[in-house]
Amino acid sequence: MTGETVAVALGDRAYDIRVEPGLLGRSGEAVGDLLGRPYLPIVTDETVAQLHLPAVEAGLRAEGIEPAAIVLPPGEGTKSFHHLEQLLDELVTRKIERRDTILALGGGVIGDLVGFAAALLRRGVPFVQAPTTLLAQVDSAVGGKTAINSRHGKNLIGVFNQPRRVLADVAALDTLPRREMLAGYAEVVKYGLLGDATFFGWLEANGERLLAGDRTARIHAVVHSCRMKAAIVARDEREEGDRALLNLGHTFGHALEAETGFGSRLLHGESVAIGCVLAFALSARLGLCPAEDAARVRRHFAAVGLPVAIAPYTNDARMLLEHMRQDKKVVGGRMTFILARGIGQAFITRDVAEAEVLATLEGALAA
Ligand code: NAD
Ligand code: GLY
Repeated sequence: MTGETVAVALGDRAYDIRVEPGLLGRSGEAVGDLLGRPYLPIVTDETVAQLHLPAVEAGLRAEGIEPAAIVLPPGEGTKSFHHLEQLLDELVTRKIERRDTILALGGGVIGDLVGFAAALLRRGVPFVQAPTTLLAQVDSAVGGKTAINSRHGKNLIGVFNQPRRVLADVAALDTLPRREMLAGYAEVVKYGLLGDATFFGWLEANGERLLAGDRTARIHAVVHSCRMKAAIVARDEREEGDRALLNLGHTFGHALEAETGFGSRLLHGESVAIGCVLAFALSARLGLCPAEDAARVRRHFAAVGLPVAIAPYTNDARMLLEHMRQDKKVVGGRMTFILARGIGQAFITRDVAEAEVLATLEGALAA
């Protein structure tokens, strides 16, 4: 089965996203032209190393490229100063040169950490993203946001650093647990909700097929999501305007993540699903969006098995509002919201009364 290529048009930092099943096994062919010498450091986590590293190494050796794997623990805790320091130390010990390229093989945790480390090492070495979760293939591996977490919050220490290429092997998703698949699916739905009602309709009809493993549906969803993200990033790389649309569901979602401790109780993608439901509920409450659209959003997330209610995570609407006030998207004391005039018609606003937000949260808790 063949795949597709999506271009990210960023001038001298432009790159391609290759979406193809089996691409990891063809890694040598996929990155060979980028390498200064036939040597490729690969940074991955223990889970992904067990499942997918052998295919990547074989693909490199088939083209005469020597792989050098660095394997880190899985989980959000790896996006830390401690692991950044360890990784940089390991890369220096292995005498990685400025003309070398580093491969980030894994989910968003590995991609975010490696992208940041690559920017720091020798004042910048190139890196390639090989995302292995749905979330990373449709979101985190594309667009150049890289970061680690601080004790004050998530993704607070980082830089924009675009990869040289993205290798999205949709066959690698076959080993992903259903819960992680669903978390990534929430970000896929987000693209339909923010800017493409037809795509949302396609997901209503095909989402379950995609989640169950249908290759054609997965390629379509990854390619379409990457196209939408590439277009937004190309016109607003540093989130000075439109890129904030990608944060649909994130203001509410982030508050829930903060309330639940950013752990496995509520995954990021799960919080985005609830956040999108709340963003549409608020839009409907303000008379901006038909109530039927808000109901449709909720129905679809619930139908595939994503969480849509806040009650299992907290019953404290005021505390959620307090978390929202601390969000890094607060500007001049005003919270930023991505609201919608309907499915596929999101817009950015700072003009929302806190009382309406609180009423939306209380309404969701009472439902
Ligand atoms: P993750 O990297 O922790 O991966 C989730 C889990 O799946 C891990 O345990 C991992 O080992 C495992 N895994 C990965 N690939 C697998 C596979 N093919 N088969 C089986 N298991 C596999 O999490 P994630 O959801 O990919 O990414 C979340 C991170 O991404 C967060 O840190 C978030 O802040 C970040 N993020 C960044 C951006 C961005 O623009 N840079 C956007 C969204 C999210
Ligand atoms: N994940 C949001 C962004 O890349 O801007």
